[in-house]
Amino acid sequence: MDQEKVIVIDFGGQYNQLVARRVRECNVYCEIYSYKTDINKIKEMNPKGIILTGGPNSCYEEGAPTCSRELFEMGIPVLGLCYGAQLMMHVLGGKVCKAPVREYGKTKVLVDPKSELFANVGESAKEGFNKTQCWMSHFDYIEKMAPGFEMVAKTADCPVAAAQKKDENLYAIQFHPEVLHTPEGTKMIFNYVRNICGCAGTWRMDSFVENSIKEIREKVGDGKVLLALSGGVDSSVAAGLLSKAIGKQLTCVFVDHGLLRKNEGDEVEGVFGDKGQFDLNFIRVNAKDRFYGKLSGVSEPEKKRKIIGEEFIRVFEEEAKKIGAVDFLAQGTIYPDVVESGLGGESAVIKSHHNVGGLPDYVDFKEIIEPLRNLFKDEVRKAGLELGIPERLVFRQPFPGPGLGIRIIGEVTEEKVTIVQDADYIYREEVEKAAEEYKKSHSEEAPWMPNQYFAALTNVRSVGVMGDERTYDYAVALRGVKTIDFMTAESANIPFEVLQIVMNRIINEVRGVNRVFYDLTSKPPGTIEME
Ligand code: XMP
Repeated sequence: MDQEKVIVIDFGGQYNQLVARRVRECNVYCEIYSYKTDINKIKEMNPKGIILTGGPNSCYEEGAPTCSRELFEMGIPVLGLCYGAQLMMHVLGGKVCKAPVREYGKTKVLVDPKSELFANVGESAKEGFNKTQCWMSHFDYIEKMAPGFEMVAKTADCPVAAAQKKDENLYAIQFHPEVLHTPEGTKMIFNYVRNICGCAGTWRMDSFVENSIKEIREKVGDGKVLLALSGGVDSSVAAGLLSKAIGKQLTCVFVDHGLLRKNEGDEVEGVFGDKGQFDLNFIRVNAKDRFYGKLSGVSEPEKKRKIIGEEFIRVFEEEAKKIGAVDFLAQGTIYPDVVESGLGGESAVIKSHHNVGGLPDYVDFKEIIEPLRNLFKDEVRKAGLELGIPERLVFRQPFPGPGLGIRIIGEVTEEKVTIVQDADYIYREEVEKAAEEYKKSHSEEAPWMPNQYFAALTNVRSVGVMGDERTYDYAVALRGVKTIDFMTAESANIPFEVLQIVMNRIINEVRGVNRVFYDLTSKPPGTIEME
């Protein structure tokens, strides 16, 4: 597919995926590459624009990540952000050094509206400049611009907050237009990719779906494809896309390990099974007894995770053997997985979670197919809606591969699974109801709505009284977190009245529970899950 694209060169900054997201919001396709990528490879990609990102180093130090001068001489517009801006100046003959004042946080900035980068940005202020706000985070600054550059933005402490060399299409911005604290940042990125780079803006989800269907058909031909469907967003969208492309040549194996949320197995079957809307072969394996058997007597968290992961693979392999040789094994890998596994950018975080314990050893396939590998999560969701996958599946909150197995502290038993399923169901029902009511009366999302929330079963049993009877039952812990990236999180401020309703219902409706806690721990030091 000859898609116009902008590439982001990653120097290890924390916002690099965000830069790529913002470019895609301008309907321009964008990929992230490490600064170590060979310049010839970059040329071959024929990008319409190149963005150099921020990074944690000082560009003038020995061994700091760098780029060649040639990058700026290819006639392709280049935009440097933060470290990228400093590096551009450094490589082209300017001077970067430690700033007398460290700028950090929301900062007032004056921008030159005559610069194409800042067209329609800010309100008029002094000396023909416009005033707006930006997010600054730097120790070094541009003391002297490289020859031929002119200053097009400044702050009180930063004499060169942006610079340009218009005739060569080179632009440098010291601040971070990609973060929300630069409210007009998206406009600046739009000005760069659409006006300066001249991208037409044809990257849309409907065209993605259409093109992918064509590509999958070409690649698969009349071959057979096997997909492990978990019911999560990614594998569901992958299933929907493959089904539209190749119909019954696709077989989805859904391993129900008995550790899913209440009714979830039936819901997945409802969408993808024989009575659902998709044309594919659907196999549901009800393996809960096998999993409960393996987990019996095991209470150590890592051991439980390992058992669940390995058993998952074994069950999947057994099913695959019954199907026989296939041509492709499909996976729901998405772009952040690719970047985080170190293949895309530079800021490689080793992914610590895997839904399954690795790739199956004994499945007979020739090639892997990953139809979502270029998409961000919200794009996967858009593609899902495009494909007609129900909203409740598309907007499902994250659910860990080992499922309720890691939401039951200590040994997993069928009885405990039922308790946690029922408590969790009540919790979700009440939070959803309260959030909807809030939305109706305030015309906006409830600010306390967690990004992830669930009930877990502690291994605490304590004395209580119900009616005239003394009880000795379990305590349920409710968790709800606000987070953007799931790497750090705060406990969500769910209204006390809502929590009280949940508590009442759980105690009254779920047998075996006589106490309910709300977990206030942030991450770190806590994790989101309890095991
Ligand atoms: P933690 O508990 O590490 O969770 O703070 C961060 C996010 O990752 C999810 N999580 C998992 N996801 N397999 C997964 O696919 C796992 O083993 C796993 N463990 C945690 C968790 O739900 C949260 O969204």
